[in-house]
Amino acid sequence: MARSRAASEYVCQTCAATVPKWEGQCRACGAWNSLVETLIHPAERRSGRRSGASRPASADPQPLGALEASRVARRPTGVAEVDRLLGGGLVSGSVLLLGGEPGIGKSTLVLQMAGALAEATAAEPVEATVLYASAEESASQLHLRAARLGLTDGPADRALTVLAGTDVAAIITAASAAQPALLVVDSIQTVEVDGLDGPPGSVGQVRESTIQLGAFARELGVPVLLVGHVTKDGTLAGPRTLEHLVDAVLMLEGDRYGTLRLLRALKNRHGSTEEVGVMEMTASGLHEVQDTAAAFLGSGHREAPGVAVAAILEGSRPLLVEVQALVAPAGGMGPPRRTVAGLDGNRLALLIAVLARRGGIDVSGRDVYASLAGGLTVSEPALDLALALAIAASQRDLALPADTLVCGEVSLLGEVRPVPGLDRRLREAARLGFRRALVPAGPSAATGAPLPGELELIRVSTLREALGAVFPTPTGTSG
Ligand code: TYD
Ligand code: MG
Repeated sequence: MARSRAASEYVCQTCAATVPKWEGQCRACGAWNSLVETLIHPAERRSGRRSGASRPASADPQPLGALEASRVARRPTGVAEVDRLLGGGLVSGSVLLLGGEPGIGKSTLVLQMAGALAEATAAEPVEATVLYASAEESASQLHLRAARLGLTDGPADRALTVLAGTDVAAIITAASAAQPALLVVDSIQTVEVDGLDGPPGSVGQVRESTIQLGAFARELGVPVLLVGHVTKDGTLAGPRTLEHLVDAVLMLEGDRYGTLRLLRALKNRHGSTEEVGVMEMTASGLHEVQDTAAAFLGSGHREAPGVAVAAILEGSRPLLVEVQALVAPAGGMGPPRRTVAGLDGNRLALLIAVLARRGGIDVSGRDVYASLAGGLTVSEPALDLALALAIAASQRDLALPADTLVCGEVSLLGEVRPVPGLDRRLREAARLGFRRALVPAGPSAATGAPLPGELELIRVSTLREALGAVFPTPTGTSG
């Protein structure tokens, strides 16, 4: 592509705000030294900047009744979890982004999808292919991985084509010629558009690459799957702007040193974001976990002081999770440590304060560690009560009663507030053998449908009541 010296602008590498002149600090997000000069590509000025231009437009406004609800054609990928998340399969001409931390299993999942798709389309009269543009791994590395996944001696051997390289124009040229059933770009942070300033992975490059690949997708009706790395704090590196440019965003999460992975849809233009998929990383790739509700329940050392089980809702699915807390004498010189994994640190600080003021359990001078088993990250307030009780249990060195589920939001005043979808949460707990549930008092605790099995409901309206319900009355402690 000819390098045309067009106008340039400065793009913040943190929030993607643009300004015409360099400044030391981004006015939009406050980041320092984050503005990088980026050439405005003529093509981008024409179409991309108005990324709304990606939507099919009609010159005249039309009344709602005159619009036709077009039925979107979907092609199942063959990986059940992904298909369910996508509402049936890949939509032609759509752009899908798969995000996740490095090493979590994105390339593995994508290769499995490509393999399954190749397999599924092998029987079609005109054999469809999958073009896998690998900008991160060499073709031989990809072959090794495919062999590990058992793809090398099936129809995928022929139907899966690999293009190793980083040039977006070359990828589009190859894909235009091949017209594959799916184009995979692994990853969007390592491909680059020739003639555009900035290294691969910079905001300008990532955005322009996505725009060009999106335009290709819509023009030829080929679904495009982009793989994107996510930084530790959860933002898509090079950054969230990408989310606005694609039709669906799937995130693969979990503890990369563990085996469980949660796949969830952050955005889905052609379906809902209510579904989640739970998978397990094995020696032969990612496999579906059948009992999703129990998957993150942990090892079952629930008689230990400092553990509480809560039920969270991922989309519409209840998952039972184990909250663990450890309260220890302050080890350092400075303020006591507050360390969280998979939980919200601010929420922990707040609950420690509420426990001290409203629950009579003061751990404010001690170190507190809290984590969620299984590598999940959850910010749902319904976890509050479980976290508070886990802290209290660790502080008092007492275990919570066995087989007890704990659900509820805790307010600043120490009230236990209702949580949405309590019925669903309780039903899963009952199915998994829990016998008792500590739930918020109030109208929503009145469960409509009968609960399967015997589940004793203990309704509490304050944190103090909850503490009283699970621990024997303290003797000699303040409170
Ligand atoms: P990968 O898909 O390369 O992660 P990403 O593309 O998100 O960076 O997966 C990395 C890890 O998965 C790697 O540590 C090896 C492991 N793995 C398995 O456990 N089983 C397998 O079958 C494969 C292919 C990988
Ligand atoms: Mg990879």
